[in-house]
Amino acid sequence: MKLAVLLCSILAVCHGANVKQTRTFPNYFVFGVGTAAYQIEGAWNEDGKGENIWDYMTHTNPSAIADLTNGDIACDSYHNYKRDVEMLRELGVSVYRFSVSWSRILPQGLSNYVNEAGIAYYNNLINELLKYNIQPMITIYHWDLPQRLQELGGFLNPLIAEWFEDYARIVFRSFGDRVKYFVTFNEPSEVCSGYGSLGKAPMLNETGFGDYLCAKNLLLAHARAYHLYNNEFRPTQGGVVGFIVSVGSTAPLSDSDEDKYAVELYAQATWGIYADPIYSKEGGFPKELVERVAAKSAAQGYSRSRLPDFTEEEKAFILGTSDFFGVNHYSGTYVSQSLYTSQHAIPSSLDDIEVGTYSPDEWLQSASWWFKLMPNSVYIFLKHIHARYPDVRIYITENGWSTREGIMDDERVDYYRSALEGVLDAIDEGVKVHGYLAWSLMDNFEWMAGYSERFGLYEVDYEDPNRTRTPRKSAFIYKNIMKTRLIDHEYEPESYVMTIDEGR
Ligand SMILES: *[C@@H]1O[C@H](CO)[C@@H](O)[C@H](O)[C@H]1NC(C)=O
Ligand SMILES: *[C@@H]1O[C@H](CO)[C@@H](O)[C@H](O)[C@H]1NC(C)=O
Repeated sequence: MKLAVLLCSILAVCHGANVKQTRTFPNYFVFGVGTAAYQIEGAWNEDGKGENIWDYMTHTNPSAIADLTNGDIACDSYHNYKRDVEMLRELGVSVYRFSVSWSRILPQGLSNYVNEAGIAYYNNLINELLKYNIQPMITIYHWDLPQRLQELGGFLNPLIAEWFEDYARIVFRSFGDRVKYFVTFNEPSEVCSGYGSLGKAPMLNETGFGDYLCAKNLLLAHARAYHLYNNEFRPTQGGVVGFIVSVGSTAPLSDSDEDKYAVELYAQATWGIYADPIYSKEGGFPKELVERVAAKSAAQGYSRSRLPDFTEEEKAFILGTSDFFGVNHYSGTYVSQSLYTSQHAIPSSLDDIEVGTYSPDEWLQSASWWFKLMPNSVYIFLKHIHARYPDVRIYITENGWSTREGIMDDERVDYYRSALEGVLDAIDEGVKVHGYLAWSLMDNFEWMAGYSERFGLYEVDYEDPNRTRTPRKSAFIYKNIMKTRLIDHEYEPESYVMTIDEGR
């Protein structure tokens, strides 16, 4: 209790909790929702699609997934995409972020053979969106690497930069006449955790090593795709290309200098490692992190740092290669040097920085083990990004809450309302947030948790072969926020029947 009061006053963790007035979202601010290919499409082997690392892992090692399921059918959006667009119209979004599946477009990973049926599927989806004035935002890579490229080393092979550039060229060439928002990578830390832990495909578990190699190669792959767009496509297509980093909120556990420094190191290790090379002034990996890992590696007897640094040329090649800061956010944590224990795997990123984290029991627990509600976390992380990179334009590209089944999702309603209050608080203080995309349009395959955790504004009935979608309470609340462009905390839906407001 005492700790909470102290933190309120020192850290502004409770900022904005009392004052509420009616504020509207600025005119330039866009609203939308997001999904990802493997989580919704299904049709895993239809019409020439190749196998990806999630197909391979869930088929060969089913117990990797909490409920032993997989994305073979998922929401069956490959067949239900018109219903998906109908839901977007019901909600009244202006942007829909979805990802394209590398192995649906290039079944063997490389660009010598393009699967025209895959291109046609995305063309149909894009054209359906544009018919209703919904702007597509394409994530080019959302975790589903073609299995063949994995067998060639995946993100540990530096050639990934060339393979990704070739794939991105086909995406820009096929869709860029109509699509004006592209994102190269979704959440590099989660992509690379597949190499540095057992937490994601391909479960390589090379802690404190595979994740660092992946980080370097992925950033170079991103930069190649960005320059490709800049040089070959932007002059005629005129869109923007961004990069999406996941950022958790952090607060020091105490007011000590050690804990404030622990927050900085934790930010460097969890997201600065991906963001600094692009958005910082000098480029390259964060300085203290580089020094830490080098010192630890030397002490552990390695002749080189486990974090491979960039050459000056590579730093310059990556610096500035994003037109906006895409950020996915869910929760946060207290960070402290005093919470470091040698229980972290050795080597590992958390061991390298020697800090620990703490989430109080009082924080509301979502359906996901990793996700508790940190009060005011949206405001906190937005201010943190702004302090680090003051000029960057921010889009929140994912934010949401997980529950079990059920249509009356008041926890999710509360989460969205307070998250969006945090956005308005940050805008009031000069943070350049230009959009918000809720995660997610509907329940979907939640990676290692399978279908046991639900993030949807629409509930999906997985027992029904049609994968019928039903709007939750939160869908009506979010619709009202988008329509009125303000957050009415008293608003209740008049009925639970969704309709499309024409002439939006
Ligand atoms: C994963 O790596 C950690 C740390 O290196 C190790 O302790 C653990 O046993 C590994 N797990 C498996 C299943 O290999
Ligand atoms: C599934 O969709 C088909 C075709 O629209 C329809 O005939 C059928 O009744 C639906 N089944 C369920 C269980 O809703």
